Amino acid sequence: MRTADSIMAPPLSAEEVAHCEALTAHLAAEVRAGGGWLSFERFMALALYAPGLGYYSAGSVKIGAGGDFVTAPQLSDLFSRCVAAQCAEVLAEGGEILEFGAGTGRMAAAVLTELAALGRLPHRYAILEVSADLAQRQRRCIGALPAPLAERVVWLERLPQRPIQGVILANEVLDALPCRRFVLEAGTPRELGVALSGGRLVERAAPAEAALAQEWARLSAQLPAPLADGYVSEICLQAGPWVASAADVLERGMMLLFDYGLPRAHYYHPQRVAGTLRCHYKHRVHDDPYVNLGVQDITAWVEFTRVAESAVDAGLEVAGFATQAAFLLGTGIERLVGEAGDVLERARRAGEARRLLLPGEMGEAFKVMALTRACDAPLPGFALQDLRDSL
Ligand SMILES: C[S@@+](CC[C@H](N)C(=O)[O-])C[C@H]1O[C@@H](n2cnc3c(N)ncnc32)[C@H](O)[C@@H]1O
Repeated sequence: MRTADSIMAPPLSAEEVAHCEALTAHLAAEVRAGGGWLSFERFMALALYAPGLGYYSAGSVKIGAGGDFVTAPQLSDLFSRCVAAQCAEVLAEGGEILEFGAGTGRMAAAVLTELAALGRLPHRYAILEVSADLAQRQRRCIGALPAPLAERVVWLERLPQRPIQGVILANEVLDALPCRRFVLEAGTPRELGVALSGGRLVERAAPAEAALAQEWARLSAQLPAPLADGYVSEICLQAGPWVASAADVLERGMMLLFDYGLPRAHYYHPQRVAGTLRCHYKHRVHDDPYVNLGVQDITAWVEFTRVAESAVDAGLEVAGFATQAAFLLGTGIERLVGEAGDVLERARRAGEARRLLLPGEMGEAFKVMALTRACDAPLPGFALQDLRDSL
């Protein structure tokens, strides 16, 4: 989430400079090993997840006030309590929750607490997390819960071997998947990546790999308006396989995906000439992924039409698509604010709700998608708005 603008990020500490230099040396070696050029997708994968060096693999604070960005569950438990309200409908028939990329573990803790209050606890809450550093933090957060809740939580190394019934959750995970970047020349994409110049990493365009070229040919034929030469954007080719593998384990229930993103026609709008890539460092936002390596987050907005297509291909139904604001209003955020015991607590909750709901904050840019299989649970989160026609 963007919490401030791009001006005047604080300088890196000596430790961060050393980290950044170590990752830069690692990337330079990868560029040489790759014959002098590395796709942006591979660059982003290493910058975020290279063992011991990538942003998510290493030990910086990352999420929260002392880190680089704030996510909705970190901002307020109101968000997770609303998520729990939608989960409770699916869990009426029993089942479990599987959360991908659980960050600090705060959403898992708050969802479990709320489901206990609603009498709809899942028999298991599984977390699949790629960052060992964050998994450790999740264990500390979950360890502070009462034992009857904490003992339901398990950490998985890979997708469950047996199918699950219940809910799959992912908040701001799809935006963290490495994406391809391209620049259009005469209507066709040239793939952006990194090369070395004078020992420094520099951005360089190369002929697009077949997978990117073919996918762009398919997508661009669907767009309402042609895009100009020099247009830069992203395609996350990993999103489809990610959705398919998550869908594979869902026997009955709902996948709830939260992320900032757009339907295809808006994502590739002629005016969005520089794409959606954003970097987050100490609550400053900018669009240069080649600085602060290993100590800044790199994300791209989610193209939700791709997510929906992949879900349908995997046999899921796109049961809902709405803004975060509509989802939270539908699942009772106003009631939760009103229920606060005293005036100060109500004022605090109202302030948090404003940040979650307002269009200039997280209310509009963030979307929620519900993907279901053999599930006719009520959908309060999608009762107020149906944006599926925009996909
Ligand atoms: C932007 S953070 C969001 C964290 C948390 N969901 C929140 O809202 O605070 C992205 C999270 O996704 C995790 N992640 C990235 N790729 C993943 C994958 N393929 N499977 C599971 N987790 C992943 C990261 O390690 C991190 O925990």
